[in-house]
Amino acid sequence: MPNEKPSKDELKRIVARAAIDDLFASGLIAGGTRIGLGTGSTAMPAVERVGELVREGKLPGLRAVATSFQTRAACEELGIPVLSMNAREVTGSLDIAIDGADEIDGKKRLIKGGGAALLLEKIVAYNAARFVIIADESKVVDTLGTGFRLPVEIVPEARLAVEAALRRLGAESVLREGVRKAGPVVTDNGNHILDCLWQAPVDPARMEAEINAIVGVVENGFFARVTPTVYVARADGSVEKR
Ligand code: A5P
Repeated sequence: MPNEKPSKDELKRIVARAAIDDLFASGLIAGGTRIGLGTGSTAMPAVERVGELVREGKLPGLRAVATSFQTRAACEELGIPVLSMNAREVTGSLDIAIDGADEIDGKKRLIKGGGAALLLEKIVAYNAARFVIIADESKVVDTLGTGFRLPVEIVPEARLAVEAALRRLGAESVLREGVRKAGPVVTDNGNHILDCLWQAPVDPARMEAEINAIVGVVENGFFARVTPTVYVARADGSVEKR
């Protein structure tokens, strides 16, 4: 039988497990570590692998912060102790955060928020001593802004004003609609999401700051102020660390 290439879901599981095992072997995930756990279909198998290590007694005193209701529920089910960023045992900063991404450019700048969890994901990522991204190679791109639509979390009342301000920054935006729910997506924080697209690539660092300066914007999905370690699963199932 010819060797079949792993499916995209298999690649996500391969890269997630490989990254957690590598971080555990190098002591970056250990007993007592304060870890931020991401959201989405690549982050979930990483959360599951952390859960296995917890249940095997290999991570005593691990403290996790979840970036969404999805991740919190997974931690609760898997027996991973989950706390708030504000808990006394966490004190607003983390040793490491691990998450998926929607796009990664050549300088390891990211677009995140395809699962609408960008706000907590950024709070966790920007307050972690180490930030780790796991992805299959379809997420690796040359430039940002013209492919995957940039998610921008907004206060609902400001929608039209923010849309106009985004147009002045060159972006056309659409309000994200719910699935099996009439009306817009409501984020875990009670806000709405505008998904933005440019005609030409943008400077993610400049745009991250300019979008966040718009009144009514809560956060946007450019992650350009942290440089993550990136684990990428290639189509043949091998994993590269960048
Ligand atoms: C969630 O809001 C996102 O930032 C995810 O991390 C990102 O969308 C990647 O998700 P998948 O791993 O499901 O592609």
